[in-house]
Amino acid sequence: MDDQSHLLEEVRRGMIPAHIYNDEEVFRLERERLFSRAWVFVGHESEIPQPGDYVVRRVLEDSFIVARGEDHQVRALFNMCLHRGMQVCRAEMGHASHFRCPYHGWSYRNDGRLVGLPFHKEAYGGEAGFRRKSQTLLPAPALDTYNGLIFVSMDPDAPPLRDYLGDFAFYLDYYTRQSPSGIELRGPQRWRVKANWKIGAENFAGDMYHTPQTHTSVVEIGLFREPKAEKRKDGCTYWAGNGGGTTYKLPPGTLEERLRYVGYPDVMIERMKQVWSPEQLDLVGHDGFMVSAASVFPNLSFVHNWPRVEDSDDVLPFISIRTWQPVGPDETEVLSWFAVDAEAPEEYKALSYKAYLMCFGSTGMFEQDDVENWVSLTSTAGGSMARRLLLNSRMGLLEDDATVVPPLPPERFSGPGEAYVGYGEYNQRHLLRRWADYLERPAESAERIHVGRGGKAVTA
Ligand code: FES
Ligand SMILES: [Fe+2]
Repeated sequence: MDDQSHLLEEVRRGMIPAHIYNDEEVFRLERERLFSRAWVFVGHESEIPQPGDYVVRRVLEDSFIVARGEDHQVRALFNMCLHRGMQVCRAEMGHASHFRCPYHGWSYRNDGRLVGLPFHKEAYGGEAGFRRKSQTLLPAPALDTYNGLIFVSMDPDAPPLRDYLGDFAFYLDYYTRQSPSGIELRGPQRWRVKANWKIGAENFAGDMYHTPQTHTSVVEIGLFREPKAEKRKDGCTYWAGNGGGTTYKLPPGTLEERLRYVGYPDVMIERMKQVWSPEQLDLVGHDGFMVSAASVFPNLSFVHNWPRVEDSDDVLPFISIRTWQPVGPDETEVLSWFAVDAEAPEEYKALSYKAYLMCFGSTGMFEQDDVENWVSLTSTAGGSMARRLLLNSRMGLLEDDATVVPPLPPERFSGPGEAYVGYGEYNQRHLLRRWADYLERPAESAERIHVGRGGKAVTA
């Protein structure tokens, strides 16, 4: 990328060089400068509640066994055998006290420690020749959690996750902490789309503008109580810390009435009142905004929506969590989970799951509408003409960069960050500005650890 600074400058003013959505060189930089540093979501603690439970997740090509050890601690262990590099664990999830490498049979405890080598004495001279004790599968350089959400970073000096999330944590609680018990997950469903990973992240962060066009049919069949998709323009988008999202404007009413309008039963509303701060409650009860889709930089997104699930006027909310896992410049693996408050009534959980599947599961109606756009965009972005085109991502800005509407004042929006009513691409620009900040910083030489034959860890 010869004119990289020029490219990043264009991105920062909201004019997006079209080829960044399908470009080998850009993808190489994302690998080297972004995914090597940012906090990346890999799972939720509720997926591995018991010692020995594990899931296998990736950050780009790096596969990690995310396991809860006998000491209840969650670890992310690089899924590569210390011997000849075979993947130690081939299952996607399960329960195991040990992992045995399929190649030559070295075995590791679920905390990563090497405990077994076939023919240890004959082949290595026993403990005197090769001490097993000091050997462990490589841990992820950094691991941290928030509300049970597990993130890893390839940067051992990554800032604490809470600092990285910043004020976005305020909004994360609506999705992941509706009671003291937090959420439980079902899934993930996993599928691949021939689309660049950034497109979904941008869409979920702030694209309220596409709803009336792309999702017309979903509204026409009456899946939502709101008769018109244009209703989205009454909501606002917000950006805070390292994430941002969209909201719907709720009809007038008290906090309880508004949460009931969204479809929450009273028992759940009571628990929300216990765990949410006065400001978090005010955003709904006083300001009348309810969070909908959102993204945390770089590739974690959330959905909260409330369709009709049965033949009545009643709606019911669902929450979904997903990652846009890059496979290449033109391909993304989507991991999509259904999330629900662990204390929710069982009947609610069942209907909420149905609501999720109808809308955003692998065959969900929204899913299908959205992806066709993104695949088409990606394939066109890979051609030569796309290199001459700057896409206009300046919605909400005037020529002189002043905003079309002023930001919401604190008395109308109780959350942190900056919020604007109506259509705008504030959040897409925020997301890509973060992207540009990462891409312009050259990677420091990464510390590599080689485990020598004698069992000594050597830092080069
Ligand atoms: S590669 Fe794992 S035991 Fe040889
Ligand atoms: Fe959509």
